[in-house]
Amino acid sequence: MAKSGTTEASAKTEASALEVTDTRSGEKHSFPITDGSIRATDLKKIPSGDEDGGGLVSYDPAFLNTAACRSSITYIDGDKGILRYRGYPIEQLAERANFLEVAWLLRHGELPDQKEYDSFVHDITYHTYVHENIRKFLEGFRYDAHPMAMLNSAVAALASFYPDSRNIFDPDQRNISMIRLLAKVPTIAAFSYRHVKGLPFVYPDNDLSYVENFLSMVARMSEPKYEANPVFVRALEILFILHADHEQNCSTSAVRAVGSSHVDPFSAMSAGIAALFGPLHGGANEAVLRMIGEIGHPKNVPAFIEEVKGGKGQRLMGFGHRVYKSYDPRATIVKKLADDVFKIVGMDKDLEIALELERIALSDEYFVSRKLYPNVDFYTGLIYRSMAFPTEFFTVLFAIARMSGWLAQWEEMLLDKEQKIARPRQIYTGPVERDYTSRLAPPKVGPRVAKKDALRQ
Ligand code: SDX
Repeated sequence: MAKSGTTEASAKTEASALEVTDTRSGEKHSFPITDGSIRATDLKKIPSGDEDGGGLVSYDPAFLNTAACRSSITYIDGDKGILRYRGYPIEQLAERANFLEVAWLLRHGELPDQKEYDSFVHDITYHTYVHENIRKFLEGFRYDAHPMAMLNSAVAALASFYPDSRNIFDPDQRNISMIRLLAKVPTIAAFSYRHVKGLPFVYPDNDLSYVENFLSMVARMSEPKYEANPVFVRALEILFILHADHEQNCSTSAVRAVGSSHVDPFSAMSAGIAALFGPLHGGANEAVLRMIGEIGHPKNVPAFIEEVKGGKGQRLMGFGHRVYKSYDPRATIVKKLADDVFKIVGMDKDLEIALELERIALSDEYFVSRKLYPNVDFYTGLIYRSMAFPTEFFTVLFAIARMSGWLAQWEEMLLDKEQKIARPRQIYTGPVERDYTSRLAPPKVGPRVAKKDALRQ
């Protein structure tokens, strides 16, 4: 039975097939099984039985059990709580790697050697500035604009500054676009933060590392050089690594689908940012903090849990996952990170509420029977909040990290010979053919001056 998450390409090559009998005709069909899957297009060999005489299609709303691609980037075993980037366990990468090293690994498939790494860091460092018109563009937003809306708009706008990026099959153009996106997204994110706070924008400091520079653009005030708290720098580095990629999640699927039209990468990444904004996806870390704020005190947790179980649509945000049917391995790492960070900033009521929510939910039949465990978003918001990031900025931090995964997945899609423009089928449930009869009142006829030309009034 295919595991939840990634269906692993099997090393075995024995011939195996799915034998089916169409009970309507008694006809037998055989579909080859490859890598734990059958090709949906094989189903077309079986008549659908509709008057159009087409073949069967597979019906899978929200793609619960449909592989849309073959990918070698990220492996997830949802039952065992395994997550690996290019074969490396997330626990080892989080503990010993840095984010740009992981961004290179996701794209190239191997860890960078020192020369590759130094060159990559140089390229990223020297592309952190954005065109001054992007700064002016961001200044046009209201003071209370959501930073995800600002980030999404600005990344899409970058397409107008780099028209050559539309040459997506030119490796050099693809490379510089990927460098620009990894380098400029933290700058745009920080500028969005400063705009909402009413603070002057802080420009990139090329002496600093990727994470330190981001924190400098977010937090530097009048001091000539920003000195980041090393615990926060390491915490953010680890959180960026944990959020870098996650195989075919909603936002990555959006990037692949939009990218399959061969649009430029800035537009494709904007689609990913838009999908991530949703509260069921990347917006969950923001929703967790709002939920904890509404609960207000650990003593209110039991009543809240009963409300969730009451099925009135209230969800325990930060819990559950389409793939992980056991503990999200990233949540384990983030929870330990929260302990480290809270040793610095001190325990607070919200963390006590989160710990009480988790304690009760992990032993409650409603959650256990639905295999609902804390996911990566359950604790991240608490850490971001302890670093004084505003709640609406949490998903922007997720987007900075996930940009590396989206770019790797986008390029893999482009170079995959099996891929075409994404265009799913449907099951039509609308009306049969019918003739048009307007239901509008007839137009009032009166003296009309014939216009010489529709374009010239
Ligand atoms: C991310 O896909 C990825 O990889 C995403 C991500 C990534 O790195 O890209 O991991 C990041 O998006 C993590 C998920 C963050 N979202 C949340 O924390 C929001 C709360 N969680 C859910 O809404 C939900 O669990 C999903 C969206 C994450 C998964 O939804 P599914 O797989 O479609 O499951 P479902 O909605 O079909 O739920 C199955 C059952 C339902 O109950 P019944 O109808 O069977 O009675 O579980 C219930 C749901 O009502 N349920 C929950 C719940 N999640 C599911 N009930 C209460 N609280 C929840 N959080």
